[in-house]
Amino acid sequence: MRQELAAVLERMPGEQRQSAGGRDFWAGHWYGHEVVAVLSRIGKVAAATTATALIERFGVNRILFTGVAGGIGAGLRVGDVVVASSFVQHDMDASPLFPRHEVPLYGRARFDTDPALSAALAAAARAVLAQLGSALGADAAAAFALQAPRLHRGLIASGDRFVATVLESAALRQALPDVLAVEMEGAAVAQVCRDYGVPFAALRTISDRADESAHMDFMRFIDQVASRYSAAILETYFQNL
Ligand code: ADE
Repeated sequence: MRQELAAVLERMPGEQRQSAGGRDFWAGHWYGHEVVAVLSRIGKVAAATTATALIERFGVNRILFTGVAGGIGAGLRVGDVVVASSFVQHDMDASPLFPRHEVPLYGRARFDTDPALSAALAAAARAVLAQLGSALGADAAAAFALQAPRLHRGLIASGDRFVATVLESAALRQALPDVLAVEMEGAAVAQVCRDYGVPFAALRTISDRADESAHMDFMRFIDQVASRYSAAILETYFQNL
């Protein structure tokens, strides 16, 4: 989201803007590492295009994705953070030609993230979550009644729908019993990264429970919580590289 990118760019002084495919890419440095920051845009096609441009045009050799997601798994609360171990497209269904969720011609439904990159991102997330107040400010933590947010690792489902009913999130849980969270891009980026052999890791802050109240605090949450988490976690990640 735009607020997350703004928080990242504040930490990348002197970044240069380059446009491609209707997107602005920001090339700069973070703790001495070359970084290109960009909004993925929303939905699987937009995110796949952005990932392809990062790889083809900017030659990136790894991709880190941050954002928000709806909590689906039973133990996921607003404010918790998920580092993905794999992604699935919950709206992919070429049955009866292929099993439900399988991406045709890949022989698989699930696309794994890179274990080493994900472990480094999870370590950074753990360090930031341990000091909730300093990453967020006590006001934001209190406004969302965030207490001891937890880090989860596992499956994230992506699809071109904002999931905003109990009925739909229950159906997702039934179709994919181990799914932790739902969003709209990660599986597309995971597929592109597999095509190109580029290591990929993804982190999502839970902004809602994918139910009837999902949309209400979404924007405020991104401003006050998710963007601060993302920037602080990436900062710790680059510091520790
Ligand atoms: N991103 C954040 N919350 C979401 C939801 N409920 N559905 C899809 N994407 C989301």
